[in-house]
Amino acid sequence: MGIISSFGTAPGTPVVETERCLHCGKCAAICPVGVLQLKDENIKIDNNIHFGCIACGQCMMVCPNGSIAVTGRNITPEDIVELPPPEQRANRKQLTALMLARRSNRNFTDEEVSREMLDSIILAAASAPMGIPPSEVGITAILGHSKVAELSRDTANGYAGMLKVMGNPFVRGLCRIFLKRVTFDRFDGFILPLGKVIVDGERMGKDYVLYNAPAALLFHVSPYSDSADAVIACTYAMLAAESAGLGTCIIGCSAPILARSKTLKKKYHIPEDHTPALVLILGYHDHPHQKAIRRRFLSVNYQ
Ligand SMILES: Cc1cc2nc3c(=O)[nH]c(=O)nc-3n(C[C@H](O)[C@H](O)[C@H](O)COP(=O)(O)O)c2cc1C
Ligand code: SF4
Ligand code: SF4
Repeated sequence: MGIISSFGTAPGTPVVETERCLHCGKCAAICPVGVLQLKDENIKIDNNIHFGCIACGQCMMVCPNGSIAVTGRNITPEDIVELPPPEQRANRKQLTALMLARRSNRNFTDEEVSREMLDSIILAAASAPMGIPPSEVGITAILGHSKVAELSRDTANGYAGMLKVMGNPFVRGLCRIFLKRVTFDRFDGFILPLGKVIVDGERMGKDYVLYNAPAALLFHVSPYSDSADAVIACTYAMLAAESAGLGTCIIGCSAPILARSKTLKKKYHIPEDHTPALVLILGYHDHPHQKAIRRRFLSVNYQ
């Protein structure tokens, strides 16, 4: 049995086209599970080893003659595309410059983002790694100022409800008792004040959720996903958007509201068993930065 995913429990199905096989053993050497083995100069397939073929596609990508095909778990041989030549790939200098120049952007011009642009960003971001293939990340693409503003309003309304409940001293007391100290402190010292800023902003006609962005990508994950998958996918989308000249900002404050509401999940095409993760807002910079900033990690230790 394969690893359970949204596509079931069957492992991928690798098939070697024997007549075209060069018996080089590259596919066996690269297979991370050991499903492919070179025995007596032939490729043997053992799909019962561990959890079977995970459909990572590594064998198809390394085969010099297109002699192996894998299907199942949302992969087909048609997914194998030409490798971009080295001169087309961003080099270290370019990528470092892109990352250094990227800053969270919360000021957008009125210019809308085109559907083609959003499609190309999603396509690029889909190459993000995931815990185990296939990707368990879903995206809701929200295009147009008015639709993004609707998500901001829905988020603000959610916070208004949360503030009302937490305004009850009894509920607050219970939270203080039952939540871990660090969780309560973060809730009390960040989430609730943030909710107040958002709700007050909404009343004053200010969007402190998605900052009047013209487009947004809402990432959600299935129960079979690694929790990091949506974060990585969102980061890939962010860098893809930045490389196309857009300004971006990752937004975490909508997800907790969406997660609590069946109605909102339905409205934003989030399956009931999925967890909303992050929203990426995108648009054209109104105030492009004149300088970059050097940041540092909390700690870096070499062992
Ligand atoms: C997981 C995550 C959640 C975030 N959520 C929000 C948010 O809800 N609202 C917001 O204005 N910015 C949000 N940000 C943006 C951060 O505030 C921003 O990345 C941080 O201030 C550092 O600034 P920089 O991105 O310009 O380097 C989030 C960033 C991350 C990575
Ligand atoms: S797709 Fe991945 S796991 Fe499956 S046979 Fe090929 S290399 Fe092995
Ligand atoms: S990499 Fe391709 S050619 Fe080489 S052994 Fe595997 S299937 Fe045959």
